[in-house]
Amino acid sequence: MLFDINPKEYKKDLYNREYELNEIFDALKLNERLIVIYGIRRVGKSSILRVALKEAKLPHAIVDVKGLYFEHGSIAREMLYRSIVGFFLKNMSFFEKIGFKVKDFLSRIKGIHITEIGVEVEPTLATRMSFTEFLSKIDDWCGKHKKRFVLAFDEAQYLRFGGGVKYDGIIAWSVDNLPNITIIVTGSEVGLLRDFLKVDNPKAPLFGRYRREILVKRFSREQSIDFLKKGFSELKTSIKNSELEDTVNTFDGIVGWLTYYGYYRAVRKLSHGKAINNLFEEGSKLVLSELEKIITPSRKRYTVILKAVAQGISTWSDIKAYTVIKTGPISDKRFSNLLKNLVKYGYLTKENNKYKIPDPVVKHACLTLKQQ
Ligand SMILES: Nc1ncnc2c1ncn2[C@@H]1O[C@H](COP(=O)(O)OP(=O)(O)OP(=O)(O)O)[C@@H](O)[C@H]1O
Ligand SMILES: [Mg+2]
Repeated sequence: MLFDINPKEYKKDLYNREYELNEIFDALKLNERLIVIYGIRRVGKSSILRVALKEAKLPHAIVDVKGLYFEHGSIAREMLYRSIVGFFLKNMSFFEKIGFKVKDFLSRIKGIHITEIGVEVEPTLATRMSFTEFLSKIDDWCGKHKKRFVLAFDEAQYLRFGGGVKYDGIIAWSVDNLPNITIIVTGSEVGLLRDFLKVDNPKAPLFGRYRREILVKRFSREQSIDFLKKGFSELKTSIKNSELEDTVNTFDGIVGWLTYYGYYRAVRKLSHGKAINNLFEEGSKLVLSELEKIITPSRKRYTVILKAVAQGISTWSDIKAYTVIKTGPISDKRFSNLLKNLVKYGYLTKENNKYKIPDPVVKHACLTLKQQ
């Protein structure tokens, strides 16, 4: 169903994205070792990743790095092992179908036990086995079985909270040394992902490594309307053209919001007005729960900056003037840093020296932010 609000797993539920899928298939066919998928929030990165890896019929694991970070506060090795093993077990029947014998593979790793009720990862495994060793074991197994393994880190920028583990170095090492593994990283905080990978820093491990970069863009107006039409027709719900137009005018081509709209209308049977209101309300809650974490270190100033931009104030100097009026003097350097951070996190974009909030629901959420 196109209007399923979870990330899509199967191609039949994924609208379009042929280009992005083919880029991934092509990279895998050529045995490329690093793929980077960028795109703003809710544009469909996780769905593309999941569908591509199912369609490619390769053994793989997808680690929800952001989920791990929010649950545990850092990305310890043990959590990664658990997450990868957990992914294998959850997709066991798929893997058996493509000839990847999960149990056989896991039995080769000391410290992992498969029992009736699930999988047990000995806490000592993490201290006993480095992540590079773990990857080497996967690579060896694939070499012997003539298979390619894909390890995907969804929202990889959170790997920077690796505690003592330098994941950027490990990814670079894998790209250099493990011929049977492709690493895919995705990131919606584009600036942070680039920072983490340090792809522009000559001294950093990943500098100069070949990588396939895929930028997932929002849908065009035509695609957005067509997506909604197909979704409604699938659920045998009729809808006025004027409502479709209004929805796309309001939410642009951000498929995550369009999916929510369709879900509210066709599954929950809300009216057009109620669906839009709900989306702004519920969507804002979602946005704020993430945003609050990010702005905490300098809450008052971040709030004022976001409110300014949400109201249409767009140049560096106008936003600064507004911030000074509301929160008192601030040095140019400090102010620039705050702005830069918001761009890095993807909450603001900067184009032709003008700042903007690219997502209408984020904009709405920022207007409701309480100063205190
Ligand atoms: N091409 C598509 N066709 C149909 N639905 C889609 C498509 N892409 C995304 N969706 C839907 O949009 C929502 C957001 O998708 P997804 O989680 O894949 O995006 P994301 O870019 O990974 O978002 P986030 O930044 O929140 O991680 C989900 O409800 C998903 O089902
Ligand atoms: Mg995602």
